[in-house]
Amino acid sequence: MDRLRGLVENRVSAGTFDRFKARIDSELLNHRVIVNNAYTRWFAQGEQNEAQLKAFVVQFSVFSNQFLVAQLNKVINADTLEGMRASKEILANELGVTFNKAGVERPGLSAAYDPDHAGIEGSVQGGLFHFEAGHFEWLWQLASKLGLPFEEVGHRRNGTPATLHFCDELIRLYGGDNYEISQAASFAVENWAAAGFWKELIEGFRRYNEKHGTRLPLGFFVWHDRLEAQHARHTQEELEEYYFQTPLDEDAFIRYGNEMLDGVAAFWDGLEDQRLTLA
Ligand SMILES: [Fe+2]
Repeated sequence: MDRLRGLVENRVSAGTFDRFKARIDSELLNHRVIVNNAYTRWFAQGEQNEAQLKAFVVQFSVFSNQFLVAQLNKVINADTLEGMRASKEILANELGVTFNKAGVERPGLSAAYDPDHAGIEGSVQGGLFHFEAGHFEWLWQLASKLGLPFEEVGHRRNGTPATLHFCDELIRLYGGDNYEISQAASFAVENWAAAGFWKELIEGFRRYNEKHGTRLPLGFFVWHDRLEAQHARHTQEELEEYYFQTPLDEDAFIRYGNEMLDGVAAFWDGLEDQRLTLA
């Protein structure tokens, strides 16, 4: 009898989840930064001048470093050991610990820290640390090739107000101590990251390289695109898991998710303004 009641309740819950999923699609995932990003659409054409390209790399490097701050806060604010470890996986990998997938990653494999070869699956548990595997260093490879000095890359002072607003929203919402808010922000950020902008950036760099006969290293962008391609498949399952584990305020989830995406949009809007100024 209990089993039957459980089944009935599950079915009711499943229907509720479908309705929630429909709301997510129409009230969150249709955010303009996911469905209509003017900057990345322009970037993909490869028509940027050198100043525009440098400005982009600098702002992205500021975001990349400030993301570490947000991620560390997410580790500290986790409310379960499991959650803390999940966040630590991301942080350690960002810093340079390669994912270790049993049976795939071969110990001693030369240049395993090269973004073209670094794994996208597995755990940092038992993984190897290389300075060169830090995501910031991949970006630094590109920046230095463009002739940017180290002091002009990655620091807070190098960020525009729009970029810093985005970074601070990440720290406040994604890395904040309210679990409900940080879950909504995570879901929003993950769906933004999986929405295809990495491909547009890669396309723009490839065209730029072709047009100017340059060989700018794209490993940072290619690796993240590979990561997102496999991660996108999991975001829906993760949402479902969260939905059935926790009593959820749907309105709040959608509201905080949108707040996070507004922060993301401010970043790309800032880049759009900047590229128009540098045209
Ligand atoms: Fe990264």
